[in-house]
Amino acid sequence: MSTLKTLIFITTLILTLSPVALSRLEAIESVLKRLDSKRASSSVQESAAKAVLKRLLPAYVHSFEFKIVSKDVCGGNSCFLINNYKNSSQNGPEIIIKGTTAVEIASGLHWYIKYWGGGHVSWDKTGGVQIASIPKPGSLPLVKDKGVMIQRPVPWNYYQNVVTSSYSYVWWNWERWEKELDWMALQGINLPLAFTGQEAIWQKVFMLIVIGDDHVKILCMKGLTPVCAFKGSEELALKKVPSNGPLFLGFMIWDLVTRLLLYKLESNSIFIKDVTFMLSSFNFNITTEDLNDFFGGPAYLAWAQYVSLAIPRWGGPLSQNWLGQQLCLQKQILSRMLELGMTPVLPSFSGNVPAALKKIFRSANITRLGDWNTVDKNPRWCCTYLLNPSDPLFVEIGEAFIRQQVKEYGDVTDIYNCDTFNENSPPTSDPAYISSLGAAVYKAMLKGDKDAVWLMQGWLFYSDSAFWKPPQMQALLQSVPFGKMIVLDLFAEAKPIWRNSSQFYGTPYVWCLLHNFGGNIEMYGILDAISSGPVDARISENSTMVGVGMCMEGIEQNPVVYELMSEMAFRSGKVQVLEWLKTYSRRRYGKAVRQVVAAWEILYHTIYNCTDGIANHNTDFIVKFPDWDPSPNSGSDVSQQDNMHVLLTLPGTRRFLFQDKSSDFPEAHLWYSTQEVVKALALFLDAGNDLTGSLTYRKNVLQFLCGAEVSAYDPMLAHKYGLFCWISDALSWSVEILLECLYDMVDLTRQVLSKLANQVYKDAMIAFQRKDARALNLHGQTFLQLIKDIDVLLASDDNFLLGTWLESAKKLALNLNDMKQYEWNARTQVTMCLEENKSFKLTEWRKEWIAFSNKWQADTKIYPVKAKGDALAIAKALYQKYFG
Ligand SMILES: *[C@@H]1O[C@H](CO)[C@@H](O)[C@H](O)[C@H]1NC(C)=O
Ligand SMILES: *[C@@H]1O[C@H](CO)[C@@H](O)[C@H](O)[C@H]1NC(C)=O
Ligand SMILES: *[C@@H]1O[C@H](CO)[C@@H](O)[C@H](O)[C@H]1NC(C)=O
Ligand SMILES: *[C@@H]1O[C@H](CO)[C@@H](O)[C@H](O)[C@H]1NC(C)=O
Ligand SMILES: *[C@@H]1O[C@H](CO)[C@@H](O)[C@H](O)[C@H]1NC(C)=O
Ligand SMILES: *[C@@H]1O[C@H](CO)[C@@H](O)[C@H](O)[C@H]1NC(C)=O
Ligand SMILES: *[C@@H]1O[C@H](CO)[C@@H](O)[C@H](O)[C@H]1NC(C)=O
Repeated sequence: MSTLKTLIFITTLILTLSPVALSRLEAIESVLKRLDSKRASSSVQESAAKAVLKRLLPAYVHSFEFKIVSKDVCGGNSCFLINNYKNSSQNGPEIIIKGTTAVEIASGLHWYIKYWGGGHVSWDKTGGVQIASIPKPGSLPLVKDKGVMIQRPVPWNYYQNVVTSSYSYVWWNWERWEKELDWMALQGINLPLAFTGQEAIWQKVFMLIVIGDDHVKILCMKGLTPVCAFKGSEELALKKVPSNGPLFLGFMIWDLVTRLLLYKLESNSIFIKDVTFMLSSFNFNITTEDLNDFFGGPAYLAWAQYVSLAIPRWGGPLSQNWLGQQLCLQKQILSRMLELGMTPVLPSFSGNVPAALKKIFRSANITRLGDWNTVDKNPRWCCTYLLNPSDPLFVEIGEAFIRQQVKEYGDVTDIYNCDTFNENSPPTSDPAYISSLGAAVYKAMLKGDKDAVWLMQGWLFYSDSAFWKPPQMQALLQSVPFGKMIVLDLFAEAKPIWRNSSQFYGTPYVWCLLHNFGGNIEMYGILDAISSGPVDARISENSTMVGVGMCMEGIEQNPVVYELMSEMAFRSGKVQVLEWLKTYSRRRYGKAVRQVVAAWEILYHTIYNCTDGIANHNTDFIVKFPDWDPSPNSGSDVSQQDNMHVLLTLPGTRRFLFQDKSSDFPEAHLWYSTQEVVKALALFLDAGNDLTGSLTYRKNVLQFLCGAEVSAYDPMLAHKYGLFCWISDALSWSVEILLECLYDMVDLTRQVLSKLANQVYKDAMIAFQRKDARALNLHGQTFLQLIKDIDVLLASDDNFLLGTWLESAKKLALNLNDMKQYEWNARTQVTMCLEENKSFKLTEWRKEWIAFSNKWQADTKIYPVKAKGDALAIAKALYQKYFG
């Protein structure tokens, strides 16, 4: 048999054996092809990558050359290539990095920085960048002769959770966003969520249109003929509506006419499409007040809408300033994403609608959702309204929303997020019904964008697994054509769904790290699951995995977890974590230090081996409101309990809270040996001398060299005034490692003391039960002292300051009113979402702490934005005090 024939024979064989698998592959291939065709030109992407380099390593702008290459160069996949620049000259390029998009180029740069330059990049708040160990321009290390090619094992690297926008990004300006987009590119993220500014789009979609003194809504159009219309809340008899479409439209809707004039009537179909669009986008007669009820305040937008959980109104209303500013920001974000060759994921309509819609569309099937988390069922905060996807209005609104985005942003993506059923099950479990709901959700997207792909968080299959049994799951996942839905296996590092679901019944999915819940700060993670999970999933039989992703609720914590996870986007084999950690700590601190390597080994087996699957982290007493009811019959006598108790014990109201049912005491989560971790801290503090020398001495020298306004703690300024600060290699080096090392040391000290405080708290409770007043007093004092000590510790590092959070909120305000609202939002989001309510049954002490918190939330005291004190000395003193 000739080779060609063999080939044909084999191909035919494969085709007949697994036609389904192949067609699925083709479906994804065609999505990828289409997205590739939307990308910015090579020169735009090359300059975007160059700009990332310039911001990160300004001194090395001429040391690297970048080039976009086609996937053919990479064997058909996305990849980056690192080569020595053949004709290297003085001050000329030394290294050339090629990639299939600017993201791959940036990832290649990052890979080079890490594995040849010995550098390290993390968020500013988790220590920033360590680039002092990269050899000077002109002496960059060469890669091996043939160069290095690294392919993506899966096409996508997804980023963000639908609530990250509220937990982490809410107060960001463009400067901060630009840094994050650079970070994303360096980590290889090519499929980021882009949720900023969507309220402004909603406002436009629901905007009231006034025609003279009459208000007319037209809902559904068949061709050019309106098939139903409304005046006020009355449905007009159709015969009263003139049926000659264009005349009728021109006559009634001046806004539309001006717009229509702009269109060339080249073909009927285009015309029809646009008319339908405009009608549905401008006729929902929702007033500003209605929208105020719909959106929450700036810090609560995620919960007001995206997650179907619903605390509408809280912290609102949104000002026009906010809406405009965020829309503007979103446009900047999207254009940068496109320049970098990323595919943004835009929001789509999930069914949440303003309550007022129910009054306007009396016949529409709008249901009020159950109470999610309001303590007192106060109707002011409860509940959102959900438009049933099978209602024709769903498609109208869904289409209008997507079209409005296209109008604002252009044709930037085909991928849309929608989580209609997140923590909100359909009314019946009939698979046929579920399938029709899924199809309706997709239809709304499709009408807005004919190539739409639905990206859905797979959280529901875990959080509500009692409802989503195999038939229901399959019904939802297969309600759209293959390749038109991508699921996020959201919590795959701990609770992978792919294993239990025949790989999502054939639906392509992204293996995601969830890791962080609630933006809570604590050291934890499962490094082993990250280093092997994505590989196991991809090489498993009949794998439908198409990407890796990071879906943390809040960012800027545990940099080691995110660095390892990001690498998995470019690793086809498992990572040997212990070996990797050695290079990690060397890169992060710019130097191999024996004690630190040993400390990281301990952390790997303890803090970073959190395998118990508990989702809610940092439930330590020191950050919780005091809420233990010590009365002997609490927990048994229902009449004794107040509403708060009911809330805290209600199943499902709090997500996977750590609760030890067998204990009489409240328990905090602990998954490792605290003694071991205290040893790791001792090693860190010991290494602190080697790594940082005398902190105050360095700081003084730096201030002398760089001018009084430059602080050794500020990496941005240190870079800006680089000329002086970099005079001495040894000095600059110590400044860099200082930041990384100090962050880790402060964080670890905080972790250790926080767990110690849990023990002290428990001892106090035991003393109380034994009626041992002396011991109670003693432990109580120790607990209070620990709070004060941790405060002093955290005040010594810029990255743990409350002041920066509050000031960033205030900085976004354009007037005093906004400022007041933003500050209240910022303070409330990090404390307590509860208001005092006299009619609400609560014990006195709970009323007291709610009042106390409310007072603080409304306050405007200014908190420092600059650290004070010598972190190393403070950490050492605290170690001596509690463990010495
Ligand atoms: C390398 O540099 C030399 C001298 O500058 C030049 O003549 C030659 O064309 C260059 N070769 C390439 C491949 O650029
Ligand atoms: C629009 O809403 C206003 C206020 O709710 C109401 O008075 C008016 O009748 C409505 N118009 C239409 C066309 O529904
Ligand atoms: C309206 O929606 C609810 C819940 O979403 C559903 O139970 C009901 O059957 C729907 N009613 C109609 C008439 O479609
Ligand atoms: C207090 O709660 C009750 C219902 O529990 C509610 O009717 C009332 O409006 C609330 N008061 C305030 C000031 O929110
Ligand atoms: C998957 O199945 C295993 C065994 O049947 C079960 O223990 C586990 O909880 C399931 N996981 C999920 C996420 O449903
Ligand atoms: C993989 O797919 C084949 C063909 O559909 C099927 O026979 C086999 O059981 C599947 N394997 C697994 C592990 O699901
Ligand atoms: C993590 O813990 C599990 C058991 O909980 C153990 O089997 C595993 O070896 C541990 N891994 C590390 C890195 O210590």
